[in-house]
Amino acid sequence: MKIAILSRNASLYSTRRLVEAARARGHSVRVLDPLRCYMRISAGSFEVHWRGRALRGFDALIPRIGASITFYGTAVVRQFEMMGVYSLNGSDAILRARDKLRSLQLLAREGLGLPTTVFGDNPDDTRDLLAMLGEPPHVIKLNEGAQGQGVLLAEKRSAAQGMIEAFRALYANFIVQEFVREADGADLRCFVVGDRVVAAMRRQAPEGDFRANIHRGGSAHAVELSGEEVDSALRAARVMGLEVAGVDLLRSARGPLVLEVNSSPGLEGIEGASGVDVAGAIIDHIAARTTRAEPGPRAARSGRQRASRRSDAAPPTARGKPGK
Ligand SMILES: Nc1ncnc2c1ncn2[C@@H]1O[C@H](COP(=O)(O)OP(=O)(O)OP(=O)(O)O)[C@@H](O)[C@H]1O
Ligand SMILES: [Mg+2]
Repeated sequence: MKIAILSRNASLYSTRRLVEAARARGHSVRVLDPLRCYMRISAGSFEVHWRGRALRGFDALIPRIGASITFYGTAVVRQFEMMGVYSLNGSDAILRARDKLRSLQLLAREGLGLPTTVFGDNPDDTRDLLAMLGEPPHVIKLNEGAQGQGVLLAEKRSAAQGMIEAFRALYANFIVQEFVREADGADLRCFVVGDRVVAAMRRQAPEGDFRANIHRGGSAHAVELSGEEVDSALRAARVMGLEVAGVDLLRSARGPLVLEVNSSPGLEGIEGASGVDVAGAIIDHIAARTTRAEPGPRAARSGRQRASRRSDAAPPTARGKPGK
């Protein structure tokens, strides 16, 4: 197989491990900086160029698109898709997962558990908005935040109101959630590849914090998931249309709650904590998916499938089809 990894930096742990795992299985692999891919679009014809040369003959694409380059990065992924290249996570699915509100709406529609969430625009509505959520404490999350930055706990309604006013004054986008106290400062990262959760870890916040992010000083350990947790993680990935996903869950009194579904989950933390060769599992999955689709005009089929897709959700059968 000839595989392209779209990644800004070949020396990142995740990228290195994927290259290693692909080469160990006898595949040829190239790391391409998505920002150095440029494209030609004309009637019925698509090209991607890289440093003066056309990129051709790839069987599979592994997109590792950082949040800061979502727009350009997914355009590059889509261009490869138009050329008939199988992308591990499709451009539509990546975009869907990047929109946190939309993700929560889609997960909720499927009946998946999630922390009750409210959002609103007008300051005049803040009081009722918080009333819709119920009793404090509340968690306020900036949409642009990552690694636990911009996730705040408001113990009292007046504190929540004050934080919301401050964010509005800064024109920041945010959501407000119920605080899931039983999670006890821990969350679960479930690493989904295809139809399996191949690895999982439990992240625990440091003493005195409720945010389990490793960047905030949290610790990570291997964890045994319940059947219900595995089921939630797989369903969440499927709803988003992602073949590879990092699904974050909270353990609550009413069962697993989905916090987030990540379309470019990092490998370092999960491989370290679980001891699982996650990179190998990803490459094996790609090999299985592309072989199943052979022989035949994968390109043409994949193009048609994408065109017929509903715009706001992956069809439930998408992952079983070749070319997705
Ligand atoms: N509603 C909640 N109740 C209890 N704890 C929460 C809640 N939301 C988040 N947390 C804790 O805070 C951590 C950070 O929250 P979250 O993952 O939503 O934001 P982030 O990590 O900054 O964003 P991203 O994951 O997109 O980078 C979670 O891992 C979890 O431990
Ligand atoms: Mg997080």
